[in-house]
Amino acid sequence: MPETTRPIQFYFRGQTHEVAGQPTTRTVLQHLREDLHCTGTKEGCAEGDCGACTVVVGELRDDQLELKTVNACIQFLPTLDGRALFTVEDLKQADGCLHPVQQAMVECHGSQCGFCTPGFVMSLWGLYLKHDKDGITPDKREIDDALSGNLCRCTGYRPIIDAARRMGELPKVEFDREAVKTALRAIDQDTPLAVTHAGQTFHAPRTLAQLVQLRTDLPKARILAGSTDVGLWVTKQMRELGDIVYIGRVEELRAMQVQDGMLEIGAGVSLEEAYAEAARHYPEELSELWQRFASLPVRNAGTLGGNVANGSPIGDSMPWLIALGAQIVLASVRGQRMMPLEDFYLAYQKSALQADEVVQAVRIPLPRKDVRFRVYKLSKRFDQDISAVCAAFALRMEGDTIAEARIAFGGMAATPKRAAHAEALLQGGAWSEAQVQAAMTALAQDYAPLSDMRASAAYRLRTAQNLLYRYWLETRTDAPLAREDVRAFAVSAA
Ligand SMILES: Cc1cc2nc3c(=O)[nH]c(=O)nc-3n(C[C@H](O)[C@H](O)[C@H](O)COP(=O)(O)OP(=O)(O)OC[C@H]3O[C@@H](n4cnc5c(N)ncnc54)[C@H](O)[C@@H]3O)c2cc1C
Ligand code: FES
Ligand code: FES
Repeated sequence: MPETTRPIQFYFRGQTHEVAGQPTTRTVLQHLREDLHCTGTKEGCAEGDCGACTVVVGELRDDQLELKTVNACIQFLPTLDGRALFTVEDLKQADGCLHPVQQAMVECHGSQCGFCTPGFVMSLWGLYLKHDKDGITPDKREIDDALSGNLCRCTGYRPIIDAARRMGELPKVEFDREAVKTALRAIDQDTPLAVTHAGQTFHAPRTLAQLVQLRTDLPKARILAGSTDVGLWVTKQMRELGDIVYIGRVEELRAMQVQDGMLEIGAGVSLEEAYAEAARHYPEELSELWQRFASLPVRNAGTLGGNVANGSPIGDSMPWLIALGAQIVLASVRGQRMMPLEDFYLAYQKSALQADEVVQAVRIPLPRKDVRFRVYKLSKRFDQDISAVCAAFALRMEGDTIAEARIAFGGMAATPKRAAHAEALLQGGAWSEAQVQAAMTALAQDYAPLSDMRASAAYRLRTAQNLLYRYWLETRTDAPLAREDVRAFAVSAA
């Protein structure tokens, strides 16, 4: 196994930038600010929450240039290998004029102290690049989503949202994608990157075969995907990660396909792409959760595989995946195995993943007419907040009878967990108010939640029961209420 193959190479400021001799967990932000003295990109929280460090990363996929906002504070430098990095300094025009995004911020008074401004500008630039060709003016929802990872303490958001609308009205500035594509083609290497620093290695295999071989050779190595959990272990907990195997360049893990009634999402597919695809199949059920999962830069970097592998008891994907009956696919040099996702979680932070295995994919059943499925996230803020409780329900009906009940919660136990008692009570019965109320009571036998900074145990149990009731209101056989009507009902009842 080679220890060091070559320097990290990425496209930066119009040329190929090479880095060697840096710690494997040096962040992109540290490199920018401390090594390159590019201080436009700021550090606010160093945990992906504030957006002051937002940059745009470019990548060639199927010879198309993909450009995405990410948080530089939690991305490790070697993950840039073969990619392009753009910061707020790149927006300055050759004639010294401001880019329309910056000009719009000035005209709409979108900045006061200015600390957050480069991050907002980069998020807006990400949005600008999304529409510079189609000329579509983003609507409020798209603007809110693009800015969901940026916090401002002084200006308030209205002038910045005005700037998002205004930027498209200003004379267009073309972004030279071809120049970036040419540069990326030149540094695209089949040879996997391997970096060594102070006895710690960073490997970026390019194929699944290379990945599982590395997993066998380095069973103690930390698997790294989007770094939106792992990055914080370094920046907040100051942990040494040891050897790292990065899966972000393994093309097989970035595929999605529909086969045998299942949507298979590779473990390396970004949360943004994975949720977009899942919500295409389940638009009514998943669109809100998609938008409320972290922020756009976190979803651009983070993966569905990472969410599932990490298996946090308050993670958002597991409840709905388990309720739908999703399977997890694990790969190693020994081959592949598959299990129902709920069987993967053994105890708090303990899963069935063997030391030589990686998560390869998640397989999600496609919608069925006889299954009534809903998912609900409760958190203090709409965007960029971790759930206090996340609930997912899927009833399979045979006529008026519940043939199968699958209920899964996050935030209620040490792992994402099904509600065995409530399910048993519902199974075989009718979907009636009396049944749902009995099942609400049974939830107290299924869960003994904790009190923590997000919610008290009593709040969690009460809201879990109420969410089951809400699900009934929305899916009852006679006169179901629409989501908005349930909200109105809840407000009038409060
Ligand atoms: C600001 C912020 C907001 C967030 N909001 C939410 C939220 O709303 N809801 C939510 O659920 N989560 C949230 N998260 C958590 C995080 O974004 C998710 O858990 C994400 O899906 C992790 O994926 P990743 O690719 O970044 O994983 P990483 O951080 O790279 O890895 C996470 C863990 O999974 C392991 N791993 C990753 N991929 C594999 C694989 N293929 N095989 C085996 N092991 C693997 C790693 O070794 C590590 O233990 C948030 C995080 C941040 C920073
Ligand atoms: S510094 Fe706050 S998100 Fe990176
Ligand atoms: S302008 Fe001061 S934090 Fe946004």
